[in-house]
Amino acid sequence: MKKRIVSGFLAFALMLGLLTGCTKGTGTSNPESGSSAVGEASVSTDSSDMSTKKVGICLYEDNDIFMSKYCEELVEYLLANGFTSDNIKISDSYNNRYVQINQVKDYLTQGVDVLIINPVDADAARTITDLASEAQVPLVYVNREPDAVEEIRWEDYDLDVTYVGCDARQSGIYQGELLLDAGLETLDLNGNGSLEYYMIEGDQGNIDARYRTQYSVSVLENAGWSLNCLFDAVGNWNTDNAKQLVARALDEQPGVEVVICNNDAMALGAIDAITEHGLTPGKDVFVIGVDALEEALSKIEDGSMLGTVFNDFIAQSHAAADATMNFIKGVANEHYISCEYVKTTKENAQEILEIIK
Ligand code: BGC
Repeated sequence: MKKRIVSGFLAFALMLGLLTGCTKGTGTSNPESGSSAVGEASVSTDSSDMSTKKVGICLYEDNDIFMSKYCEELVEYLLANGFTSDNIKISDSYNNRYVQINQVKDYLTQGVDVLIINPVDADAARTITDLASEAQVPLVYVNREPDAVEEIRWEDYDLDVTYVGCDARQSGIYQGELLLDAGLETLDLNGNGSLEYYMIEGDQGNIDARYRTQYSVSVLENAGWSLNCLFDAVGNWNTDNAKQLVARALDEQPGVEVVICNNDAMALGAIDAITEHGLTPGKDVFVIGVDALEEALSKIEDGSMLGTVFNDFIAQSHAAADATMNFIKGVANEHYISCEYVKTTKENAQEILEIIK
């Protein structure tokens, strides 16, 4: 899909400015409400005609590298399926649940056919589900999975609410397996029989961050590895934060062998810090992430990054758009629509690059 429509979309997207940050070309950037008028929810006689249908999208934070790629792909796919750019509204929630809830209220007041929400947190999700179901507007959550209590509610009350995303446990397990595959004899640079590592986490309370942190390590523990965590800090998914944290850790807690990062944006920051410290990433310290960002893939190819886990934003965004169209056509969705992560090393980095380019 991505490849088939890319040239036509590119011209269109450049015209709209969609590729320069997802919220810039469509919605509004008013931090208070962050949404703009979309008119009344539409009534169409042809259920497969999407040209009059209105979608309200909220991103927890537009300034998130992975989410902005995700959103570009989502918009591209919606346009390719007949939605018009005027009817696709995107709001940046600035990682603030109150801003996000207000944006949803605005969308509902103005009239949208479906909401696609990348929730700031589980509390925001609870309120948003209440608002959307009261207004009888179907809801597609993406990327940040609401909690189990919330998901049971969709089932119990038969709500038109679904979550599209991957199981974050799998990404943590794959990170652990990447390290297992590399072998303790390779990673244990000081030869003391245990792995000295730093953990750089996403944001506190986020399920992806929690599971990746937990499972990457438990896979190694279960394999009988001896581990020594020298440093563990929250980098909020952000390259600069991670760079600063790792720079500090290298000064205060030297002797690290592996830096495990909850995402690639932070892995790239870790690599910068390691290099600026006068060490060679891939030789003196090994780094792994999650996402398979283009820049991370080239670092894997040149040996400065050990590996990553492909977080398939193409499959996820297309599935979210397909669920949206199902709701519009009156077709029910499963409450949980899953996708698979892919372990990524030098061996398949080129293959993944072909998919995401
Ligand atoms: C991605 C991160 C991103 C986060 C946002 C995760 O699945 O791996 O890169 O920052 O989602 O919620």
